[in-house]
Amino acid sequence: MIKKAILPVAGLGTRFLPASKSIPKEMVTVVDRPAIEYVVKEAIEAGIEQIILVTHSSKASIENYFDRNFELETTLEQKQKFDLLKEITEILPPHVSVVSVRQPQPLGLGHAVLCAKDIVGNEAFAVLLPDVLVKDDSHENDLARMIQRFDRSDAAQIMVEAVPNHMVDQYGIVDVAQSPDEGESIIMQGIVEKPTVGTAPSNLSVVGRYVLPAKIMSLLENTPRGAGNEIQLTDAIAMLQKSEVVEAYRMKGKTFDCGSKLGYLKAVLHYGIDHPKLGSDFKSLIQDLTL
Ligand code: G1P
Repeated sequence: MIKKAILPVAGLGTRFLPASKSIPKEMVTVVDRPAIEYVVKEAIEAGIEQIILVTHSSKASIENYFDRNFELETTLEQKQKFDLLKEITEILPPHVSVVSVRQPQPLGLGHAVLCAKDIVGNEAFAVLLPDVLVKDDSHENDLARMIQRFDRSDAAQIMVEAVPNHMVDQYGIVDVAQSPDEGESIIMQGIVEKPTVGTAPSNLSVVGRYVLPAKIMSLLENTPRGAGNEIQLTDAIAMLQKSEVVEAYRMKGKTFDCGSKLGYLKAVLHYGIDHPKLGSDFKSLIQDLTL
């Protein structure tokens, strides 16, 4: 079973300036909690027990968020604000830990994943890119299904979704004989990082959720710089796929790209409408605005 997940959070979030000038983009609030909490919850729901943040010196607030805050807890207790106390102490269940490692230089996603090599050791692991929120309201989320599939087949799993053809140059794109049904995996023939429009092998884009064997780390050590002059995870996966079966898993849920401003606003609307306490008032508010 996969128990470890790498979350690369060292990026400076230039797409989200000015907000990300002094707040990590992962800490920007979606309704009433930072975006990264949704990603950590997604991992935990899929059975992950150790979250590995690959981080940067300017991003200590992420680690602080997942740590206990004794002063705040004591104050809430003294003021008998037990609901709030419960909420802040239950951000992480007791069986889940968060550890962090630094990415000393911005050399790309592949390099970020490689920074967690010693923590991962010989185990297979998941990677979740925190810019993308995956909203999946079924009892078993997409990542859980990918992990089960990996457990059964030993084949690395790459989560994909269809994007319009003119947008393929913004993503990793997979090459498959046919598009799998939602919730299903299919053997991948290739994968390429940000192909130019018109040259892409399909319109199935890499969403930012991966289940990978430990072997990918030694491949990353030998991955030359690729697109954007960065060490690309996509290129290491392409190497892996030459010696082992790698599968593209087509997601069932919906994605929100919180690294972009419009994607973020869309996420706030969708998560706001479904919020257990604020949802119905928020819906009326939107209806009032659109009348
Ligand atoms: C990264 C990956 C890319 C993937 C994308 C998903 O790119 O390299 O393959 O499709 O995330 O968001 P980035 O957005 O960091 O440029």
